[in-house]
Amino acid sequence: MSRLPIAVLAALGLLISSAQAFTVLITGTNRGIGLELIKQYAEKGWDVVATARNPEKAHELQALAKKHKKVTVEKLDVSDVKAIEALAAKYKGKPVDVLINNAGTLGDVSKQTIGALDQTEFVSVLNANTFGALKVTEAFKSNLAASQMKKAFAMTSGLGSSELTARRGGFYAYRMSKAALNIGFRALAADWKAEGIMVGIIAPGMVETDLLRASNFPGKGISTQESVTGMMKVIDGMTLESNAKALNYNGEAIPW
Ligand SMILES: NC(=O)c1ccc[n+]([C@@H]2O[C@H](COP(=O)([O-])OP(=O)(O)OC[C@H]3O[C@@H](n4cnc5c(N)ncnc54)[C@H](OP(=O)(O)O)[C@@H]3O)[C@@H](O)[C@H]2O)c1
Repeated sequence: MSRLPIAVLAALGLLISSAQAFTVLITGTNRGIGLELIKQYAEKGWDVVATARNPEKAHELQALAKKHKKVTVEKLDVSDVKAIEALAAKYKGKPVDVLINNAGTLGDVSKQTIGALDQTEFVSVLNANTFGALKVTEAFKSNLAASQMKKAFAMTSGLGSSELTARRGGFYAYRMSKAALNIGFRALAADWKAEGIMVGIIAPGMVETDLLRASNFPGKGISTQESVTGMMKVIDGMTLESNAKALNYNGEAIPW
């Protein structure tokens, strides 16, 4: 059998590696921004791991997974540590290029106003929005480290910004969960930088979803399509040097 010249082998290798798809893992994907993230990453040809608390009820997500064979739906409640560990064990050894901690809850707004503060409600919002995101990221560290892109993201909100809070109060549990998320992911960025894992904080803007409607936000938000297209561009552009900055879907910095 004749040997192929080295240049041909190298070109073949390049072809194979450029055909290799990237993998994204996204939490909270049965509706809203998460569902649109799945749609747009699937359309880009990525391998997509889409998690949801109740996949059996996630009809739009299941339809998407049927259409795009590279979308895998997994069950995950981000406030359930055992479930996080079980999912990470299932994916052991599989590189994850981009991890987006999208799952989040506004909580019951009536139980997070002054005069009616409810401890159980507070803990449950912080558990999902803050601890859950950090725990998922911790659990998938080796998957990120094994990937080409090595990017992990927290999904923050303007309500977690100290400067923007001067304009409007309320939403105590939600805004405190997002402010805590910001500082946690900044610390993580510092911890993982030397290992080449980029940790970023992104915000989707004011987006027309169930969450925004439940907040009684006056005015109209942007579409999930516009928000996600913008965030994906921001995610693409983020590097180890730009990490730990909170960036909005349009690339603008969110004030600390
Ligand atoms: N919409 C906005 O204007 C806006 C602005 C700033 C930031 N954000 C952030 O963007 C992210 C997505 O929000 P959205 O607007 O798309 O809200 P949404 O329509 O209410 O969707 C929230 C998603 O998170 C999931 N989720 C909630 N708690 C979870 C848990 N414990 N485990 C797993 N999944 C959980 C929900 O699943 P279930 O269906 O099972 O509840 C749902 O899939 C959130 O982190 C939110 O804080 C949104």
